[in-house]
Amino acid sequence: MRISGTAYRTIWPLPSGAVRVIDQSRLPFEFVTLDLASLEDAAHAIRTMVVRGAPLIGATAAYGLALALRADASDERIAEAARALRATRPTAVNLAWALERVRRSIAAVPVAARAAAAFAEAGRICDEDVEQCRAIGLHGAKIIRETAAKARRRVNVLTHCNAGWLACVDWGTALAPIYAAHDAGIAVHVWVDETRPRNQGASLTAFELGAHGVPHTVIVDNLGGHLMQHGEVDLVIVGSDRTTGAGDVCNKVGTYLKALAARDNGVPFYAALPVSTIDWSLADGRAIEIEARDALEVTHVTGRTDAGVIERVRVVPEASAALNLAFDVTPGRLVTGIITERGVCAASRAGLLQLYPERAA
Ligand code: MRU
Repeated sequence: MRISGTAYRTIWPLPSGAVRVIDQSRLPFEFVTLDLASLEDAAHAIRTMVVRGAPLIGATAAYGLALALRADASDERIAEAARALRATRPTAVNLAWALERVRRSIAAVPVAARAAAAFAEAGRICDEDVEQCRAIGLHGAKIIRETAAKARRRVNVLTHCNAGWLACVDWGTALAPIYAAHDAGIAVHVWVDETRPRNQGASLTAFELGAHGVPHTVIVDNLGGHLMQHGEVDLVIVGSDRTTGAGDVCNKVGTYLKALAARDNGVPFYAALPVSTIDWSLADGRAIEIEARDALEVTHVTGRTDAGVIERVRVVPEASAALNLAFDVTPGRLVTGIITERGVCAASRAGLLQLYPERAA
């Protein structure tokens, strides 16, 4: 996507052998990049959410493994580096998927050629993610087009967290259909949940929709239900960090409550995700490990003062405990459909197998 006229991906390799990412911890106030030169750099970037969003976490882990192999590509080093990267964030399955894919791609490669082979595989993971997100956009845009044709007015889509191009390598998952619809001339407006505690909606989704010229309004997380009751939401589209083979959708905490409100108000609720987000080994979303993050993200908020200084301020009494579970699971029965690179299906095992018949075995 373009920022001030320049086309960007969220991650790309440099001739020096390092990998460059957009530092998302500085958005929306500063658009700056950061170079990752080692396994430790990549692990730190994922853990501290310099990069975040399931597909981008996977892509960064893939490059992180490649970076780790530059000095030592022994079997022991591969295992140790994969363990370190895996421990950074537990919920997005794209991370384990990407590491496994790089490991498989270099398993039979001579040690001296492994780092180069790992970089090449990481590059393929990125390229495929871009194509998959583009396809998700085209499939999802059909839903927006049909909604617009019925409504005969602007389509209002509500989204939670950031599942746009910043969360992927390009295009995004939940936002890809919105970009495709907007670019095709369909009038679309986005209700952007601010997404406490890290405010990925307010800071990242609003930033990227604004950069692309998509009309949007930031709302507090709890407004969605009211807007749905008043006919102000035509569709909900969210991303996912892990979707079970039975169609349960794990995504940023608060997604489940949006799905409940959508069901109560007859609003279609879609999850958009690439195949790398599907955890075929799980049939029940309750088995997904939910990341517990630092309570500081709840007790404090970060923002820019009117004087232009980025500051963190406390909003919770010193003596109060705070709990910061980063994701929740929306059961497939509350999901109208899953939009993948292969099309739209029911959020069930049967639905997913229609799109991925090769997984039946
Ligand atoms: O904690 P984050 O910012 O990594 O969480 C991101 C989300 O929950 C996204 O909705 C999800 O990763 C889908 S990204 C296309």
